[in-house]
Amino acid sequence: MVIKDSIPRLEMISCVLCKDAPCSQACPKMDPAEALFGIWMDDQDVAALRLPEGNPCADCDAPCEKACISTDKVNIKNLMTRLVDVIRPESEVPLPETEDRLRCDICGIPIENPFLLSSSVVASSYDMCARAFEEGWAGVCYKTICNFDIHEASPRYSAIKGDNGTIVGFKNIEQLSDHSVAENMEIFRKLKAKYPNKFILASIMGQSEEEWTTLAEECEKNGADAIELNFSCPNMEEEGLGSDIGQVPELVEKFTRAAKKHTTIPVLAKLTPNVDVMKHAAEAAFRGGADGLAAINTIKSITGVNLYTGVSYPAVKGSSAVGGYSGNAVKPIALRFITELGMNPKLKGMHISGMGGIETWKDAAEFLFLGSGSIQVTTAVMKYGYRIIHELKAGLNYYLAQMGLDSVKDIIGAGLHSVSESTNVLDRNTVLFPKFDQERCIGCGRCVISCSDGGHQAISFENRKPKLDGSRCVGCHLCVLICPQNAIRPGNKRIKKQEH
Ligand SMILES: Cc1cc2nc3c(=O)[nH]c(=O)nc-3n(C[C@H](O)[C@H](O)[C@H](O)COP(=O)(O)O)c2cc1C
Repeated sequence: MVIKDSIPRLEMISCVLCKDAPCSQACPKMDPAEALFGIWMDDQDVAALRLPEGNPCADCDAPCEKACISTDKVNIKNLMTRLVDVIRPESEVPLPETEDRLRCDICGIPIENPFLLSSSVVASSYDMCARAFEEGWAGVCYKTICNFDIHEASPRYSAIKGDNGTIVGFKNIEQLSDHSVAENMEIFRKLKAKYPNKFILASIMGQSEEEWTTLAEECEKNGADAIELNFSCPNMEEEGLGSDIGQVPELVEKFTRAAKKHTTIPVLAKLTPNVDVMKHAAEAAFRGGADGLAAINTIKSITGVNLYTGVSYPAVKGSSAVGGYSGNAVKPIALRFITELGMNPKLKGMHISGMGGIETWKDAAEFLFLGSGSIQVTTAVMKYGYRIIHELKAGLNYYLAQMGLDSVKDIIGAGLHSVSESTNVLDRNTVLFPKFDQERCIGCGRCVISCSDGGHQAISFENRKPKLDGSRCVGCHLCVLICPQNAIRPGNKRIKKQEH
């Protein structure tokens, strides 16, 4: 399989990813908005293959671009033409006819694909869950149910934005479901009656053993397929609650056992990343009888400070608080914890439901590779809506077809063999040089600056072209990461250190 260049998101940065997009309404031949969204969600093969045969943009005066409501021009015709001319001819397999290869299970209970909404505002009412099911989500982890009186603060979010203006990290100070237990049970009954094949994971939080037992029992009686124990909400700090539970293995074990007491359905413990290692809580959940684990919940954070008031974000009547961080920025931390769980032989056989920063099918595939058996998403849905499920499913399905794999289960845990918790085990006697593509290089010199001031002074600049000095290069690959043109790649020449 060839690793291809993607059409970078940056090239459609002005596209606002509209609802009922005027570009698609103006185009008589296809759905450019769907294709643009496919590019945005790293799903360009599928986007290209969905377009009509031939070149639908030939001899067209681009009514899509005239209809576009973005304040900056979006080169829709150019992007569509690149999908047709560059991406489609390189697509290795046709679009799969079915999504059968996405079928998998949570603790033996079949699900139509690995994708669930994670417990949060995105899965907090009948209407929202029903719409998510209709869009194609296999299930929902419903907003955490509790007996507390919940009154949320306003505003309750803040964010870190990337260079292109989109949210990369997201902070919330939201607590739990503000419906009563009885209201939520009615919602479960209605959802199960209308969508018997969709998976309902009931997230619960109690304050005593009795409460964990009763809540779990109620959820099972009213149609939940499995229970998720919220041991990890960073925004519930009353005694014995929230992330504090996940930090105390004895409580995790005790409350897991309490939840299992009168239930027959699988129980997953949702763990906190606000710890050094997850194994203590995870193994405690196992001892308490948990069938699976879910990770990660949000990371305790402060996203920024208003420099005129000195109050950090979000400010609620002049005050703020530490809150939970999520979104794409937390993916590396989530993947690290998933790996830790996946590699632990004591947890073998436990289902791992992975989450934390998943936006695209590629993010999801990474979680699967490191041992997640199902995938949960919140922040990306808050950013883009339930519609991302189309790209998550199509992209993953296409990738599996391209790899000649019949089942998504074939990649679960397939990446664990190569990871180690310690960098000590890695070879330190060889160097892998970077390789420069002089044709792609536009001579910006960014690699020269970074290597000079942040590396090993191994790249010189001659006639606006970088030149590598092999005797100085240590093969750190900072230049590969920094190049804005993707013109520097890892080479294929690994040499012994003493030779260079
Ligand atoms: C606004 C918001 C509310 C949340 N509420 C809950 C909750 O009630 N229970 C829970 O277990 N996790 C809750 N979470 C955490 C998410 O389920 C998820 O673990 C976390 O956001 C990481 O996934 P993401 O990066 O896809 O958002 C919430 C997250 C957000 C952003």
